[in-house]
Formats: sequence, structure tokens, C-alpha cells
Amino acid sequence: MRRCDELASCSEEAEIIVRPFASDAMRHAQSLAAEWMELAGMSVRRDNVGNLRGRYEAQSAGAPTLFLGSHLDSVRDAGRYDGPLGVVVAIAAVQHLRDASRRLPFAVEVLAFADEEGLRYGSTYLGSRAVAGSFDRRDLERLDADGILMRHAIRDFGGDPDRVADDVFTGEALGYVEVHIEQGPVLEARGLPVGVVVGIAGQNRYTVAFTGQAGHAGTVPMSLRRDALAAAAEFVLAVEAEARAEPEVVATVGKILAHPGATNVIAGRAVLALDVRSGDRATLLVASRRMLNLAEEIATGRKLTVQVTTDSRNEAVACDDGLVRLISRAIEAAGYTLAPLTSGAGHDGVEMSRIAPIGMLFVRCKGGISHNPAESVTVEDVGVAIDVLNRFLELRAKK
Ligand code: HGY
Ligand code: MN
Ligand code: MN
Repeated sequence: MRRCDELASCSEEAEIIVRPFASDAMRHAQSLAAEWMELAGMSVRRDNVGNLRGRYEAQSAGAPTLFLGSHLDSVRDAGRYDGPLGVVVAIAAVQHLRDASRRLPFAVEVLAFADEEGLRYGSTYLGSRAVAGSFDRRDLERLDADGILMRHAIRDFGGDPDRVADDVFTGEALGYVEVHIEQGPVLEARGLPVGVVVGIAGQNRYTVAFTGQAGHAGTVPMSLRRDALAAAAEFVLAVEAEARAEPEVVATVGKILAHPGATNVIAGRAVLALDVRSGDRATLLVASRRMLNLAEEIATGRKLTVQVTTDSRNEAVACDDGLVRLISRAIEAAGYTLAPLTSGAGHDGVEMSRIAPIGMLFVRCKGGISHNPAESVTVEDVGVAIDVLNRFLELRAKK
């Protein structure tokens, strides 16, 4: 818990937690995590894209690798457990092995991913894509809000943008298991400290830009206006109505920018961020398409134009049955009943599933609140998570 508090102090802003990809705050967080990894007997390195990777060798050379970990980057005005809890719990599990002078028949590699949220460049899973070999080189040309190219950010952070492809893991991976706060209300409602995850929802992210005509707020008659912000507002409510009508879908417009953004100027341009999710692949496709069609209809109806950019698309992913079984056995051995959960939140396992079977263990969080400084977990529940992870490792070692 103290380590999560220390990581929370690594932020780009004094008043809130904001720890973007390849930032000074990330550098500070990685220096702390690297220290804890070394204390746990791991060899530590940072790869080109900027992931921090701690490796605890197996009983014998040439053994396969089991990956643990989570992400160290955050959203804006974040809580202190989304990401960092999974990293520190993974390090605690390796510390447990080290303290018992235990070596397993597989190496344990803790991955502290550089960018899961996509806050700085809009693309998600940059770190896990590099490890899984699905990093898209075109992302290197993305610009952040300050106009800094991703390739320059990677170089400034100490990596080589032209060698990100070298970070791919080509060995034998037994699995990738991530401990993460649930970010939802189920465990609290069931009175359980932890739950096993059976799948991760798919998510599509878009930038939707309405273009009308800026004008004088006092002189342009209402009937002649081409108000981009009014069109955006109509779109936001239409997205909400669509998602409410479809039980398998959630959709959010979490960001909106009006240009020029002045009280007495009719907005000539409005740029929104759209996030659409579903556990079902076909449902996600249909819902996304319907919402983008709505944007076109609204623009046409108001004599505006609209431009849509697809920022990221990720399919729903199932967790590996074998890992779900082992994690479930570890939960029951720890004395708790099972609560199989589907994650509405995306996680790095989506990308890691390309090179390894994936599993996740969720930890109860107060009120299911996340992506919010009110995010909180209890030390008892974190203790259960560490105990279950340790039991899982022992069960996997016996297989
Ligand atoms: O948005 C998400 O689902 C995750 O927090 N990146
Ligand atoms: Mn997360
Ligand atoms: Mn998150």
C-alpha cells in the first residue's frame, strides 16, 4: 500500500495523479519500481518502447517464462491503484519466492508497461504491443498535445524508436497473469475480496470532428447558424441513447473541445473522443457503425461536415481456460468462493494474448470507483490478492 502511495506521488501535476507515457513522472515511477524489483532478486531493464521489465530466473536455464505485471501509466486525475497495484503485487509475489530462496521451473518476468491508457498519444497498449510484436510503427508519427512526435518522446525517454521491434518476446511464454482492481461494483456487492476474470471486452476509440462555421454570437440569426458545438452536443446524447438501448454496449464521449472556445463566438469546430465497448464482437461492430452513421446524419441535418478518425480498435478477448482454472483453484484454496467476471475495462492482456495464454485476478475496489482519485482498496484485500497469486504460482509450478 505504501508503494502505491509512493507511485502516486510520481505525477506531472502536483494536485492530481497524471503519469503519461515517457514522461518525467514515469521515469520517477520506474526508478522506484526498478529498486523494488532488484530487492526481489530480479534483473531489471527498460526496453526500447519504455517498458520496465524485471526477470526472476528459473531453476534452470532455457526454461519458459511466466509473465506477471500491469501498467504504470495513468489516466488524467487518476486513482492510485489502476495499474500500479498489479505491478507492486507482482513484485511482492517474486519477493516471496526470493525470501524463501525458491526457484520455479519457469522464469517469472514482471512487466511494468509503459502505456496502457493511451493518454498521451491516443493509442492504447503501446507497451504490451511492443512485447507482443503488434506495435504499429505508424504510431511513432503520432503527435501529443504539445506537438511532440512519439518517436522523439521514446528517444528522449532513453529508447530507440527504430528498434522497438527488438522488444518482442520470442521465447516460450506460459502465460501472462495480471492482478488489477475490478473497476466495477460486483465483488463489493458479492462481499468478495477477489474474483477471477474470464474475458475482456472489446473497445473501439474514435476522434469525431464536426466542422461548421464560426460566427458572431450576437449577429448570426439562429436559422442561419452552423454551430459545431450544438451538433456535438446532439451527437453526445444520441450516443448515450444508442448505448442505453443496447444492453451489451457501453459508449462514452469523455472529451470535447470547442474551437475557438470563446463565449461570444459560435463554435466553428468541435472535436470529441468516442469510446464504444462490448463483450461481443459483432455487437461492438454494429454499435460502432450505428454511432458513426449518426454523426453523419447530424452533420448533414445541420449543414456541417464531420470527419471520423479511428484511434484504436481492440477485439474482445477470452482468458485462457487453464489459467482461469488454476486461478480459481488458488482462490478456493485461499478460502474464498468464486466470482467469474468479465472486464468492461481494457487491459494489456488483450495484446499479450497474441503470444501467451492470459489470466486476470480482480481485486475489490470501493464503490467500483476507478479513473478517479477516490479509487481505493483495503490492505486486507491486497493481502488476499498476493496470497492467491503466490498460490497460483505454486499450482502452476506443480503442473
Ligand atoms: O479504458 C480502459 O478500459 C482501460 O482503463 N485502459
Ligand atoms: Mn488499468
Ligand atoms: Mn485504466
